[in-house]
Amino acid sequence: MADFVGAVDQGTTSTRFMVFDHDGAEVARHQLEHEQILPRAGWVEHNPLEIWERTQTVIATTLAKQRLQASDLAAIGITNQRETTVVWNRRTGRPVHNAIVWQDTRTDRIARALDRDGRGDTIRQRAGIPPAAYFAAGKVQWILENVDGARESADKGDLAFGTIDTWLLWNLTGGTDGGVHVTDVTNASRTMLMDLETLDWDDELLGFFDIPRSMLPEIRPSSDPAFYGTTRKGAPVGGEVPLSGALGDQQAATVGQVCFNPGEGKNTYGTGNFMILNTGEQIVRSESGLLTTVAYQLGDAKPVYALEGSIAVTGSAVQWLRDQLGIISGAGDVERLAASVDDTGGLYFVPAFSGLFAPYWRPDARGAIVGMSRYNTGAHLARATLEAICYQTRDVADAMTKDTEAAGVPMELSVLKVDGGVTANNLCMQLQADILDVPVSRPRVAETTALGAAYAAGLATGFWSGTQELRANWQESRRWEPSWSVKQREDGYAGWRKAVERTLDWVD
Ligand code: G3P
Repeated sequence: MADFVGAVDQGTTSTRFMVFDHDGAEVARHQLEHEQILPRAGWVEHNPLEIWERTQTVIATTLAKQRLQASDLAAIGITNQRETTVVWNRRTGRPVHNAIVWQDTRTDRIARALDRDGRGDTIRQRAGIPPAAYFAAGKVQWILENVDGARESADKGDLAFGTIDTWLLWNLTGGTDGGVHVTDVTNASRTMLMDLETLDWDDELLGFFDIPRSMLPEIRPSSDPAFYGTTRKGAPVGGEVPLSGALGDQQAATVGQVCFNPGEGKNTYGTGNFMILNTGEQIVRSESGLLTTVAYQLGDAKPVYALEGSIAVTGSAVQWLRDQLGIISGAGDVERLAASVDDTGGLYFVPAFSGLFAPYWRPDARGAIVGMSRYNTGAHLARATLEAICYQTRDVADAMTKDTEAAGVPMELSVLKVDGGVTANNLCMQLQADILDVPVSRPRVAETTALGAAYAAGLATGFWSGTQELRANWQESRRWEPSWSVKQREDGYAGWRKAVERTLDWVD
């Protein structure tokens, strides 16, 4: 009898494999980083073969740490950095180009062209997201247009496209030897190619990017009792285990945080922040700069939708203080430095290093530190950095309230569930509660992303009976209550909005 479920969490900077027991507690893990390839300003690539190799190593090492075998695993789930695009040759198994990462801005031109005529609005309406370099379709188009011979191979049906879930599922199930070519609804909803209502690829959207349908994976539920496939015999798992759950990492964290009811939401603090609000079976189309996306689909149940606020730079602003300014020696130091002053001394920092994502979507914005006087020190800047993380979250939380009200399904968060590295920073979490005026709650199991993928996989095989059982696994480790006065909160936020204005129209 298998006592555990495994999950691959393939993220932007590293890949990990984790094993969980029936209570959702961690049993073992191993993690490895991979190279960030930066060929030009704004370009970010990963080597898909390196990612596949790292995935095999972390699986095998994790299992070896606890002497686990394939027969100990009831299922394996996959979760992944979203939008990152791989195109490979199905006959050879070799990628035709490095993976183009979600942060890569080379396809800005493609996105802008779509917005100059009505096609951008068709994408917004059908796919729920605005044309942007962030999403996968433009990246596929770029590869077809720029890699020698790619277009011809695609027309012959030799090329396959996938986000990282698809690439790993294809390899784990056998690769050139019968690998399955599938993705899940959440990953498909990040391409600009899937119709949110039919959950199928849309021919008109495919036409906008000139992508042949033959390249695309089959779209399946996030938790699939029919399984996507089983792991191939032999390495890295050592036997056939059902691959039955897949979700983009932010959606997986939503499941791991058991946000199963409309109005429940989570915020993940990593390199950037990703806040997701469950809107139930209702597709809420955003008028306020949010993304409409699929939260998850469990088996043949109706899909559950979400509003998402994606913020590009939060934790990476803290890294910038460490690496570029050298005012802290480790990310952990920022809390001590920021706590050495009572406020920011009037200073605001808008870390719009790669433009602003949600809710502004302004690629022309660039970072700014404003409101400075001679009095200010590095401590004020450290505190302003933490506040910037929280103000950006307030921007998207306000947009969520506005959008759900406009759609006639008003939803205001009664508590914000949080996860990710920055949640270890108590001052930042206190500021988040103060700036949002909502309690902030961190769970005991911090690895909500991997846990969510494990839950999706285990639900499909009956390892867990249903979402009620998962809810019972969730336990709070710490809660922060709002403490600022209304005036402090609203004055602070007004200053932030003014500071954001200063960053816009900076580059053409
Ligand atoms: O949309 C991008 C997001 O999925 C990346 O997440 O955690 O790999 O930075 P992460």
